[in-house]
Amino acid sequence: MRGRMLRLKHLSSLVSGLPGAGRPSAAASQSTAYTIERMCGIVGYVGERNSLDVLMGGLRRLEYRGYDSAGVAVIDDEGEIETAKRAGKLQVLADELERHPIHRGGTGIGHTRWATHGGPTDRNAHPHLGDDGRLALIHNGIIENFSELKDELLAEGFAFESETDTEVAAVLLGREYRRTGDLRSAFQAIVSRFEGAFTLLAVHRNEPGLVVGARRNSPLVIGLGEGENFLGSDVAAFVEFTKRAVAIGQDQIVAITADEVTVTDFDGEPVEVEPFEVAWDASAAEKGGWSSFMRKEVSEQPEAVANTLLGRVVDGQVHIPELESFGDDELRAIHRITVIACGTAAYAGMVAKYAIEQWARVPVEVELSHEFRYREPVLDEGTLVISISQSGETMDTLMAVKYAREMGARTISICNTQGATIPRESDAVVYTHAGPEVAVASTKAFVAQIAALYLFGLHLARVRGTLSETELGKQLAELQSVPEKIRTVLGEAEHVGELAHWMADTRSVLFLGRHVGYPIALEGALKLKELAYIHAEGFAAGELKHGPIALIEPGQPVFVIVPSPRGSATLHPKVVSNIQEIRARGARVIAIAEEGDAAVLPFADEVLRIPLAAPLFEPLLAVVPLQIFAMELAQAKGLDVDQPRNLAKSVTVE
Ligand code: AGP
Repeated sequence: MRGRMLRLKHLSSLVSGLPGAGRPSAAASQSTAYTIERMCGIVGYVGERNSLDVLMGGLRRLEYRGYDSAGVAVIDDEGEIETAKRAGKLQVLADELERHPIHRGGTGIGHTRWATHGGPTDRNAHPHLGDDGRLALIHNGIIENFSELKDELLAEGFAFESETDTEVAAVLLGREYRRTGDLRSAFQAIVSRFEGAFTLLAVHRNEPGLVVGARRNSPLVIGLGEGENFLGSDVAAFVEFTKRAVAIGQDQIVAITADEVTVTDFDGEPVEVEPFEVAWDASAAEKGGWSSFMRKEVSEQPEAVANTLLGRVVDGQVHIPELESFGDDELRAIHRITVIACGTAAYAGMVAKYAIEQWARVPVEVELSHEFRYREPVLDEGTLVISISQSGETMDTLMAVKYAREMGARTISICNTQGATIPRESDAVVYTHAGPEVAVASTKAFVAQIAALYLFGLHLARVRGTLSETELGKQLAELQSVPEKIRTVLGEAEHVGELAHWMADTRSVLFLGRHVGYPIALEGALKLKELAYIHAEGFAAGELKHGPIALIEPGQPVFVIVPSPRGSATLHPKVVSNIQEIRARGARVIAIAEEGDAAVLPFADEVLRIPLAAPLFEPLLAVVPLQIFAMELAQAKGLDVDQPRNLAKSVTVE
């Protein structure tokens, strides 16, 4: 590839500018070098385009799935297989491709990796080869029994270059290809032998124009084009080219050519598939001029809540069509709700616990998915298990959902990713409509999750008759006022940014909250940890005197989420006295308090104001300054707010 640097954004506008965005113009296939901002995940393509354009563009959008090495394999127009792979972010591979171009070809697979087996090195990067280099394979997930398979292959004289489980799959596939002579049946011969989680894609030079894939416990979706077809870890891989998609189910094999898509089970039996229309367009997954995806997504929070509520409040009533499979009698028969999630999603569940218990008078427990599954929880048909997951692919949560269903519980998923695995493994799903969340740190999905859970809580309260119509209407009005109130808080972002820059050298920050403010204290601490790599801890304010107050020394920054003085008559004064206690010991107090709350003024060094809201709705507002603080402080430290070190957007391994 020579000459002009073509930014992918221009490439996508070339493609999207095409009439019908169908067959590529000559211009689109003349794309040269790549200026890559970010990439991640799995992409496959067969069609007339130069597959490398599709792979690099698709991977850029999937970056949040992991980004410590990257690679591509293309079958060129002469039927040769060409690969390139490099450790590091995708730009490293892009530079490599510019230095050592690979030939044009209409069949290809691409991958960026978040290391599990074997460190992030060139050698361990995907694709891996089989059948003496005639076959290339990429993989997401973990093949847990790879070492015994490797021993079997070593005993037969096969050699390996990497430490990865993926190379074992590639060599095994290559061995089977020699026996069967075609990729589909070679896949069928090996996939049932794998334990664990995998999405696999492979190409073979003897079968140009064909990409075959298989999945178990890991995501894979098909993009249906005109004279071309796509595969991806999620729809962001190909939404630039088509919005018609099909999610591939558990233990299924897919084969795509330019004109045909076939899906079978692991035994080769055809399976019915159900196409869906992707609800957002390619530009939504771009940064749209923002300096980072995170800044863009923080700013999109009003729309994330508004879109999640859209169409679900009709004539003053909650209307969630996705829950029609849960009849009113069944909802009335629920005697316990267990929420399972990880990280930020778990904190959304903790916030919702207060509201659902208060409105529907059903006990709600919130469990970390990875703890839930191993403590042999008592579940029965009266237990409703609600999983919360932005990606819908978090392995800990997926395995917990599967366990819950095996134990006889009914399951509802709150998810932001259409066609993801967790919703498909649940009895029902309530999608949040926050749009693609690309930054690793979850922000707009968090507020959307709370909004969706509040809708469910109000629906449950109505069905169980625990809230009057008047009270229901009041709560719904509060919920519908949240987007505008978040917008007001966003208007104060500059002041929070100044505070963050002033505190750029701080080594440790504490966060205090009570009641629904407590999960927000935990979330504020998590944001600071994962973005600015600063030690941060969230506490229930009432816990202070039971130990944590020993941490307070002169100058120690402490954020305090102050409950509304218009709410519980006791909580507000108790939190104000907590502020006095830590101030007396020299803490530097940053209070997040509602407009007009004067009680905090004598004791706080800084007050970040949020609009008036009913107590249960304050978390949706109080979290915003904490997100911005963490983001700005990370920015002040010159850190990458979209791709924090050691993290991936979707943790698809246990
Ligand atoms: C949030 O900022 C973190 N990136 C992380 O805690 C995340 O919320 C957690 O991994 C759960 O992800 P999920 O919502 O996709 O299941």
